[in-house]
Amino acid sequence: MIKDLLAGAAFVCSAMIPASVLAQNASYNVIPLPQDIQLVTRGNFQLNSATRICYPKGDKQMKQNALFLADYIRQHSGLELKVTSRKSSDNAITLRLGLQDENKEAYRMEVKYEGIDIQGSTPAGVFYGIQTLRKSLPLTEGKVSHIDFPLARISDKPRFSYRGTHLDVSRHFVTTDSILRFIDILALHNINRFHWHLTDDQGWRIEIKKYPKLTEIGSYRPETVIGHNSGKFNGIPHQGFYSQKELKDIVKYAAERHITIIPEIDMPGHMQAALAAYPELGCTGGPYEVLKQWGISDNVLCVGNDKTLQFINDVLDEVAEIFPSEYIHVGGDECPKTVWKTCPKCQKRIQENHLQANAKHSAEERLQSYLINHAEKHLNALGRQMIGWDETLEGGLAPNATVMSWRGEGGGIEAARQHHDVIMTPNTYLYFDYYQTKDIDNEPIAIGGYLPVETVYNYEPMPKHLAPEEQKYIIGVQANIWTEYMPTFRQIEYMALPRLAALSEVQWSQPQQKDFDKFTQRLPHMIDMYKQLDYRYAKHIFDVKSEITSDPQNKTIAVKLSTIDNANIHYTLDGTTPTTNSQRYTAPVKIKSSGTFKAAAFRGNERTNVAQEEFTFNKATVCPIEMLQPINEQYKFNGGPALVDGLTGNDTNFKTGRWIGFYRNDMDAVIDLGKSTEISSVGFNTCVEKGAWIFDTRGIEISVSEDGKNFTSVVKENYPAMTEDNPNKIYHHHMSFAPTNCRYVRVKAISEHSIPQWHGGKGNPGFLFVDEIIVK
Ligand code: ACM
Ligand code: ZN
Repeated sequence: MIKDLLAGAAFVCSAMIPASVLAQNASYNVIPLPQDIQLVTRGNFQLNSATRICYPKGDKQMKQNALFLADYIRQHSGLELKVTSRKSSDNAITLRLGLQDENKEAYRMEVKYEGIDIQGSTPAGVFYGIQTLRKSLPLTEGKVSHIDFPLARISDKPRFSYRGTHLDVSRHFVTTDSILRFIDILALHNINRFHWHLTDDQGWRIEIKKYPKLTEIGSYRPETVIGHNSGKFNGIPHQGFYSQKELKDIVKYAAERHITIIPEIDMPGHMQAALAAYPELGCTGGPYEVLKQWGISDNVLCVGNDKTLQFINDVLDEVAEIFPSEYIHVGGDECPKTVWKTCPKCQKRIQENHLQANAKHSAEERLQSYLINHAEKHLNALGRQMIGWDETLEGGLAPNATVMSWRGEGGGIEAARQHHDVIMTPNTYLYFDYYQTKDIDNEPIAIGGYLPVETVYNYEPMPKHLAPEEQKYIIGVQANIWTEYMPTFRQIEYMALPRLAALSEVQWSQPQQKDFDKFTQRLPHMIDMYKQLDYRYAKHIFDVKSEITSDPQNKTIAVKLSTIDNANIHYTLDGTTPTTNSQRYTAPVKIKSSGTFKAAAFRGNERTNVAQEEFTFNKATVCPIEMLQPINEQYKFNGGPALVDGLTGNDTNFKTGRWIGFYRNDMDAVIDLGKSTEISSVGFNTCVEKGAWIFDTRGIEISVSEDGKNFTSVVKENYPAMTEDNPNKIYHHHMSFAPTNCRYVRVKAISEHSIPQWHGGKGNPGFLFVDEIIVK
């Protein structure tokens, strides 16, 4: 709860303050927002260059905390403060332990006339108090004479004990210096776990002394595929790994910032780089090469080979020696079982251990579990706990495993019901390799998807249908950064920021405290910190947001525009780029005919990205529409009206809300043209993405009616199933027929009800994605 939060605190929100200004105010309106802020009376503590930072004598961690604080204040405000273990009752920031709170990361910050007191239940708690103090500082380019801190009492603690961010350094290697920078970024967001994905098909990045070829051979690939597995390669070698000495230094650097590094050795799949180095660990014996393109490799560890089990023990021994973390991650995701089916050694292992298929699991899934169980046993013997991706549920969970739920929340829910700890990291909310905008033509390439800051922010990690005694197994939340499409650390920063700010409130704040609009008011100050620290960040959050609604009564479309800070918006209807001379937006714009709508926000001379909508009007546009079969819940977006909203799904990103999806059902829509109208054609588009089980329609029927009850068929066509050779793209379906009068048009498109044999999803239903029905 925040009381009287803004009363005494001027919130500085956009540009940095020139050095000529001598006093500035601090504001506790930071990210993540502290749980409780009480502004006690009016008045300030004046922080100036004579202020001391005091820590308890002899406490190394608290001394480190004090040094961090001095460094932050110097960085952000230019004031150089002395750090001392001598107590001071006046003009001091005093760091103390001894707060009575079960939460090990709790702190209290009291701002009094004579100074600021930060008390934590542990040094980590004090560190988060320091982060709050640091983020409340005004950002000044040079020295200020003093900073006024409104008198206040702040009590704070995190909601989740596990607050993670993952980084993949296999697909693209990240230098040691950039890893340290990444850790600083995590600390700024109160994140306390760094899940480090160190090995994968495209590169092995951790020195293992007993298996030197892992890095001699496995850390190098001669070139990398261009784009989304285009089949073309860039001819540029890519390599890099961390020595054990470097890793230990990084572990120490993170620990000083109260961040635990959780290393991941992904097994038994995603191991092709290791197999390139030690082909005898694969089922066929190779040869294998470090993978040069993205995706999932069939070449996985041979579980039938005793050397593989020894390899895992040996690698985990060295990993545990480098990383003191309680948790070690063993992956377990995306392991194709094809090769195991024909490998005599793997089949022998299945026989000898009675891993035959049962009602729940195939023999090969149980073989994967056998391996993961082996890894867990070894880790437990080393005094460590194991984490695996949610696939580790598939052959039966290892007894003490913690599950990281990435393919949605289903795996996490199931694991919690089995009383296993869970970390939620569902791809639809927390995969920071997804696009941050729908305008992907003007964006560096990303893996796909659409994950704006708002979606991240609104994620609620605690599944409602878990009973309270099951909810306690949800111990944390994490975002994942896979780097296939992030060749540089600057690109990693851009993909992470400001989504990490949204994540930090998902991890730290209580749900009743969360409010996206208020968050966006706090965000500009955080973004100013990014600027000051030279972190690259995405600016989409400042763009114009448009909300489009249909008005069937008046046959118009209304476009409502907004920005997070009420910036000036200008728009055009003639396709030209808006300038400050274009029409100024004051109220929702009514669209009545086809055309291009463009809008942009202006802050000073700076123009945002241009928001653009192409409206096409036809006889069905903005007409009432009834769906005779349900739309798939996950891809419903605005529902049936999306098919007649004047906006055509025009790229193959099926998650933007333009396309709506059907699964197990067909698209079956009736459009009411309002009055008897002559029509002679009906068309619509489908979006095909076979890898995501999205196929073209198998048949179309158009029928018409005057009364909405008795329909006459005017077109009926069936199509063959798609073949492997049919490309992923937008398919246009356009049917002409003899002119006919009708008030109601029924458009039915049959979905693929049984995916063909050549596809991994064979026999299952496929999705059908449709947009914009055009009636002429
Ligand atoms: C994953 O994204 N393969 C865990
Ligand atoms: Zn095998």
